[in-house]
This record gives sequence, C-alpha cells and structure tokens, in this order.
Amino acid sequence: MSLDPTLRNIRGTFDILPQAAASEGAHEVPSCAWQHVEQVIREVLERFNFREIRTPILEPTPLIARGVGQLTDIVAKEMFAFRRGETDYVLRPELTAPVMRAYLQHRLDQQGSVQKLYYLGPCFRAENPQKGRYRQFHQFGVEVIGAETPEADAEVIAAMMAVYEAFGLRKLRLRLNALGDADTRPRYKAALQAYLEPYAEQLSAISRKRLETNPLRILDTKDARERRLLENAPRILDFLSPSARAHYEAVKAHLQELGIAFVEDPFLVRGLDYYTHTTFELESPDLGAQSALAGGGRYDLLAQELGHEAAVPAIGFAAGIERLLIALQAQHYAFPEDPGLDVFLVALGQNAARWSLCQAQQLRREGLRVDLDLKGRSMKAQMREANRQQARYAVIVGEEELLRKQARVRDMRTGQQHDVAFDELSDFLKGTVVRLT
Ligand code: HAM
Repeated sequence: MSLDPTLRNIRGTFDILPQAAASEGAHEVPSCAWQHVEQVIREVLERFNFREIRTPILEPTPLIARGVGQLTDIVAKEMFAFRRGETDYVLRPELTAPVMRAYLQHRLDQQGSVQKLYYLGPCFRAENPQKGRYRQFHQFGVEVIGAETPEADAEVIAAMMAVYEAFGLRKLRLRLNALGDADTRPRYKAALQAYLEPYAEQLSAISRKRLETNPLRILDTKDARERRLLENAPRILDFLSPSARAHYEAVKAHLQELGIAFVEDPFLVRGLDYYTHTTFELESPDLGAQSALAGGGRYDLLAQELGHEAAVPAIGFAAGIERLLIALQAQHYAFPEDPGLDVFLVALGQNAARWSLCQAQQLRREGLRVDLDLKGRSMKAQMREANRQQARYAVIVGEEELLRKQARVRDMRTGQQHDVAFDELSDFLKGTVVRLT
C-alpha cells in the first residue's frame, strides 16, 4: 500500500487504530484500551457527582488569549489559530477557559450554586512533539465552579487521585503550592525580579527574557546553575495574606485527613496565568521528561478576566490521557481483552450469502456480536477469517444446509461441530454464548 507522503497525518498527531500499532503516526494503544480508560475515568468522576460538559473544539481566540494569558507559552507560541472573515478562531489548547465561558454564557449558576463539571476530549498545542507531548492530545478534567471553600480544593484533588487509584497506578507524586490572592502575585513577582536582577548575566537567554515578562516561569527551570541561584530566592508562601495562608493550611489539613500524600513545592509554577491560591501537579516517574500526569488549581479571577462583573470562585484539574496510557503501560496494566466475536457466518454460494445477511441481522438484534464474509471468499478463507477474528462459533451454511434448514455450527475453541436447526440456532448460540462468557 502506498500513500502520497505529503498526505500523512501531521507530526504530533496520531490515529488510534483498532489494533495495537507500531507504525509512525499511529498510537500504540488500540482503541478498545482507550475506550476502557475513558469509561473508568467517567465512572470515577460520576461517583463524585461530576456531570459531563462538552464544549466546541473551535473557540474564539480572544477567549483563550484573555483566559489563559497573553504572556503564557500556550498563547504566545502554541496556539493553532487562524482568521476567517472577521472572526479569529483557535483550536482549544485547554478547557478551563471554555468551561468558564459556557458557565457564564448559559448562566449555569442558576442551575445550582455549585457546578461540578467534567470533560474529556482533544486539545491542541503547537509544541515540539516528543514522547508524552503532542500537538493533538486528549485531556480529561473537572471544574468546580461557585465554591470558595478549601473543601472544594480537597474534593478536586481527591477526584483526580481517585482516577489514578482506580487504575492502581503507583509511585505518584503530588506537588502542592499556593499563589495567594489578587495582590500576592504582583508583590511576589516584584520581589523575585529584585532578587534575580543582580544575577541577570548568569541567566540563560530565555530566563533573562522571562525576568522582564514572566519571572515566575524561571522557577520552572531545569538548568542546574539557575536552580542553585534560586535556592535563596524569596518564597511565594511567605507573601500570602493571612486569609490566603489560612485557606492553604486548611487544604493541606483536608488532604491529610483524606490520606492523600503531597509534597509542598514553592517552585511549582503552572504555565497558565489564571491561577490564584492552590496549585498542584501530579507526577509519575514513568513519564520521563514530560513528567506531569495532571495539573490544576484555583482560578477565582478568571470570570472577571472574561468580563463578568464579580469574581466567581472556581477550581479544577486537567490530565493528559496519553500520559496516563504511558504510565499504565510502564506499570504493565492489564487492559481488558477485546471481547471478540460471538459468531462468524460462513456462507457458500449466493443463496447462503443472502441467508447469512438476514441471519446476522437477526442475531445482532438479539445482542450477539456477529460478522460475515463480504467478499464471496472460499470456505477455507472464510474459516481463516473466523479464526482471525477469534469468533466463538462459525456458522456454516451452503446449498445443502439451506435445503435441510440446518446450519453446521463449529465451536472454534474445541473444534466440535453440531447440526442445529435454523429455528433453534439463535437459542443455541445465545444459550452457549451466555453460558460460556
Ligand atoms: P496543563 O498543565 O496545561 O493544565 O495541562 C494538563 C495536562 O494535560 C498536563 O498535565 C498533561 O498531562 C496534559 N498535556 C498538556 N499539554 C500536553 C501535550 N502537548 N501533549 C500531551 N499531553 C499534554 C491545563 O490545561 C489546565 N486547564 C488545568 C486546569 C483545569 N486548571 C484548572 N482547571
């Protein structure tokens, strides 16, 4: 098979195929494993009474620019954005700003004073692709909108941890930090700038630039020399107001009560501008350089950033499904087997093919997984196909069987064959399939 190379899927995106795949541009985990993972995520989040919200993949660029922040890497460098007519569109790079947009636009506060929403779907960022970092990737996450208590923070973190616990993932590390309220960040930013300025010459080019624009991002550095410089830098926790500190202490106490282990990390800066108070990130040692499985925090000022007259307290997390899959593979997670086919109908001749088409329809209506030959192949080739599809039974019908109104049913596991009358066929298959599964 060949395809014009210019038509291959875009680097950093992949096809999710029914089979496990090793070819470039395909995700190695098959679609049935994705479905399983998505189902577990939904079940866990629904146990916390999160309800699903689905927002468009296409959003107005200003929503993301204002919501996520003009100076963030996501907005400055990583948006897939374009203009058509008078409108600026962006493929959503995340869902917190879109979910807040939907909350404000549809007055969801009138549906209950606390909204607990979850989502699952594709996001887009024009990053340099590598393992665990893609241009189209999939996030799941939750947003609790309308609650300002530390209990809401604990609930969000507990829901995140419950998802990973449901998969039995081990060795995870939860990092926690607090960014305080509206005035904390500017005060801390100024203090950090003042501390780092004398060392500006020793900083990398990118950190020097960040020193002017977004010095908090320097705290993220992987550069050993810069890390040493930062050891004595001012800590944001020392800049919290008494009420912000009380909130943070209460969140930590709740996590302890819930038995959720965490480490405090004053260097945890998230790459999005909307955060206030609690921020957190969950890491797995199985992910290599892209170690964050999930991240989130409180964003009490986002609603105002989007033009709402009053602050709307809110907190959430989002997580990458591809990264979850990497961690699951590394820990040899047993994905459920594809259930396979119940019945493959083997038809010999035109009349039998017609009978098979109708019989397949009937058996499917009764709940069985059924397939049949669509190429008019030989009996041998059809039996091979039944085998390849791991069908539990092959039901073989030719002219003779049609005359006798009996099908030959082959148990593909034992090789035993039975002649079964047409009008008993469905009971026979259903009875045994149900008994055997
Ligand atoms: P984020 O940290 O930018 O936060 O992304 C959350 C998660 O998405 C990351 O921890 C990672 O697992 C996954 N992720 C991000 N970018 C990529 C990529 N290029 N390839 C693969 N996976 C990726 C947010 O998006 C915030 N909206 C989280 C949040 C929700 N804050 C409050 N509510």
